[in-house]
Amino acid sequence: MIYLLPFALLLASSFTASASPSASPSFPKDFYWGVSTAAHQVEGNNTNSDWYAWEKAGGSPDLSGNACDFYHRYDSDFQLAQNIHQNAFRLSVEWARIEPSQGEFSQQEIQHYRDVLKSAHAHGMKTFVTLHHFTNPLWMTSVGGWLHPRSHLMFRRFVDKVVQELGSEIDSWITINEPNVYVLTGYLVGVSPPGHKDIGSAIKAYANLAQAHAEAYESIHQVYPHAQVGFAHHMRVEQPAHQYNPAEALLAHWVDRFWNWQFLDAIQSGTINFHFGPLYRVKRKFPKLKGALDFLGINYYTRDKIRLDFSSPTLFSLKPPPADKTVEFTGMEIYPKGLGTLLKQSAHYHWPIIITENGMADAKDLRRPKFICDHLAQVLKAMDQGVDVRGYFHWSLIDNFEWSLGYPPKLGLYEVNLVTQERTLRPSGKLYGEIAKSGDLSACDALH
Ligand code: FCB
Repeated sequence: MIYLLPFALLLASSFTASASPSASPSFPKDFYWGVSTAAHQVEGNNTNSDWYAWEKAGGSPDLSGNACDFYHRYDSDFQLAQNIHQNAFRLSVEWARIEPSQGEFSQQEIQHYRDVLKSAHAHGMKTFVTLHHFTNPLWMTSVGGWLHPRSHLMFRRFVDKVVQELGSEIDSWITINEPNVYVLTGYLVGVSPPGHKDIGSAIKAYANLAQAHAEAYESIHQVYPHAQVGFAHHMRVEQPAHQYNPAEALLAHWVDRFWNWQFLDAIQSGTINFHFGPLYRVKRKFPKLKGALDFLGINYYTRDKIRLDFSSPTLFSLKPPPADKTVEFTGMEIYPKGLGTLLKQSAHYHWPIIITENGMADAKDLRRPKFICDHLAQVLKAMDQGVDVRGYFHWSLIDNFEWSLGYPPKLGLYEVNLVTQERTLRPSGKLYGEIAKSGDLSACDALH
């Protein structure tokens, strides 16, 4: 019955009190209140990237096209963030723009990002910069992408350049966004480039991304010894669909280990040991990975219910959540308590934590206000119990291009009219601004 133990621990560590903002103290004065974006999703015309090619080949219902035209509108978009009292902004610098051909860098694009980062600072915000957010230059894909044994060194050369050229404008670094989601969608399920469907390749690419993270960490620290470097980890609560089904409990444990913890264990130990149960495994030592993290970024959206499914190569599929808890388009469950659970579990690694993404698709903005309040109540509660959380970034400032789902999911605090590029503040954006301004959840009281 040993396989039931992790699930029992998971349950024991989750707490049951409902969100009660008034019972919790306020957030610290230096708490980061931010929004998150990614280059390809907001800038527009990222033509030299593998994602642009993927869209043209039919990989998304929409072409990203001009997206939100953030490439030209960054200054006024930073103003919108400042209007809702943000003191931090997460964005990514696009590898495909900065290194359009292998080993050749575009000074024009580097200057563009320098201007962008200076503008964020001019609007009173700290810059949180992601170095890899799902997209690669076409040349990188054509030489083998993240399965190439030297992919981490290709990434290193790009990062060295960013550090040298833009480092002085970067306050905190996020090396890689959601390496687990990247390999799941690109190498296992095949809904993102390069479109593979093979768990062995997924695990290999995952290991190469871990090495790339270590290279980036080293590159940044060689020039900025006191830099704050993290990565954005997509974490989910993994539970069996049927609580007393031992096979599902075992599978949920395997998924939990693979999805939530193995990347963190690799950074803690310097040994990459990625595996799904005993079925697929990559094991290698990479000493420079050991301890290569200054903060843990957590992207939190949902929990999964794991059900046995012999038709799947991984032997499981996800049980859909009840309709009243399901997020439109993404099909995810709204489950704020899971954020508290994962924060407490992650605290065992003793890294400061920043919520680098949290949000939901909600075009009419009917449920997002409560979603924000309930998740932040979980953050406060975890902090009250001793978890070191330094900031919260909402995904996203503006509606944007949602990868293989195209434009229909609306996750912005500001609604975007894609024809006129007009931005309109949603009620949840106003509410989040009030929370950021006051540093507590009193603005949520009106919702209860
Ligand atoms: C995350 C991605 C981000 C965005 C949100 C909704 O998994 O990091 O780019 O698509 O989901």
